[in-house]
Amino acid sequence: MSKTKAKAREKADLLIVNADELITLAGANQKPRIGKQMRDLGIIYHGALALKDGRIVAVGKTVEVTKAFKAETVISAHGKTVMPGFVDPHTHIIFAGFREDEFQMRVEGASYMEILSSGGGILKTVRETRKASVEKLVDSGLKRLDVMLEYGTTTVEAKSGYGLTTKDELKILEAIKRINQLHCVDVVPTFLGAHAIPPEYKANPYDYVNLIVEETLPKVAEEKLAEFCDVFCERNVFTLEQSKRILAAGKNFGLKPKVHADEMSTLGGAELAADIGAVSADHLLFSSVEGIKAMANKGVVAVLLPAAAFSLMLGKYADARLMIDLGAPVALGTDFNPNCLVENMQLVIAFACHFMKLTSAEALTAATINAAHAIGRAYEIGSLEVGKKADIIVLDVPNHRFLGYHFGVNLVDKVIKNGRIVIDKEASRSEFPIMREEE
Ligand code: NIG
Ligand code: FE
Repeated sequence: MSKTKAKAREKADLLIVNADELITLAGANQKPRIGKQMRDLGIIYHGALALKDGRIVAVGKTVEVTKAFKAETVISAHGKTVMPGFVDPHTHIIFAGFREDEFQMRVEGASYMEILSSGGGILKTVRETRKASVEKLVDSGLKRLDVMLEYGTTTVEAKSGYGLTTKDELKILEAIKRINQLHCVDVVPTFLGAHAIPPEYKANPYDYVNLIVEETLPKVAEEKLAEFCDVFCERNVFTLEQSKRILAAGKNFGLKPKVHADEMSTLGGAELAADIGAVSADHLLFSSVEGIKAMANKGVVAVLLPAAAFSLMLGKYADARLMIDLGAPVALGTDFNPNCLVENMQLVIAFACHFMKLTSAEALTAATINAAHAIGRAYEIGSLEVGKKADIIVLDVPNHRFLGYHFGVNLVDKVIKNGRIVIDKEASRSEFPIMREEE
């Protein structure tokens, strides 16, 4: 018998052990992963995690973690992949009414911009949202977060933008604040007053820009309702000059800039994002090579939204390969909105792989740690490292290469949010499906 006594094991709240692949993505908290780093997932085979008080307290091989920690609840991830919860860095989750009628028109050939210029699209949703109470917006927002969580998303960014008056923008931001308080999914708020020119200002759009800068933004900042300020910089929406003015004003109020850039035309949105020091530029279907280079130089995260491009039905996607080659940090998001009604980051990954030719590893990096960088949260989410939030998903697949490959289903088996199991499909599954006797 050995004379040295085994060291007492420390008590954790929860252990996850024996993961075929434990995807840590460790080591990218300061800067997003770029270029070839996007394929480095920091995988630990036969990996384990120990969780305590909502945080990760140990990450390593199962033999090592279980030597140091014990817990009453132990999850076996044998045959499974364990990874950080998805971070969705671009959504418009708070709105009233749907646009299934316009979807039929678009299927039959009408373009997104034609519908918007004739008073539909965003403006239709604005009419409905202005009529809705904050309670109704909170209620539908919570249901949407439920679906996102079921598909493995543990943090989302949420934009205003369907109010377009000071009062209605504040109402939407208030709804965002409440869903963040009421739901376990974390919600990061963005002010997008510059989402469309409201009909009242059609003849004098500069007056609307003035309203945003002089009235809405100061109120948003005073009530601390947003962390970011975004602009839909697009031909026939907000010009480069108007966008710059709004983002600069937002910056003065401490709101970090984001840009809906070059979604439908080459306007110079990517260049603007680099000039103004934006945290991210999003969409980027039509960005110039110079614009992408400028973003890469400044470390602006390229938030790509292939489900939105899919919804536009142009057969065109952002040039993600070029962005990765040029060293721009790439992230992925859903762009959940009434035109692109998808909560599911796994489907976004499938689109990224099929249409933009990202490998499963690159897409996974883009949907976790790089997405966390796009919303200023990389210090606490997006990777599995000691000290970070215990926001973890267990996928019912033996390795990460099934992401994008097996699509149209939900691969999530368990979701652990703030260290607690909030979704457990394995536990809720009945033992055997009932077989009907042959007659
Ligand atoms: O990111 N392009 C502008 N904004 C959203 C669409 C919003 C809407 O159509 O309601 C987007 O695609
Ligand atoms: Fe958007």
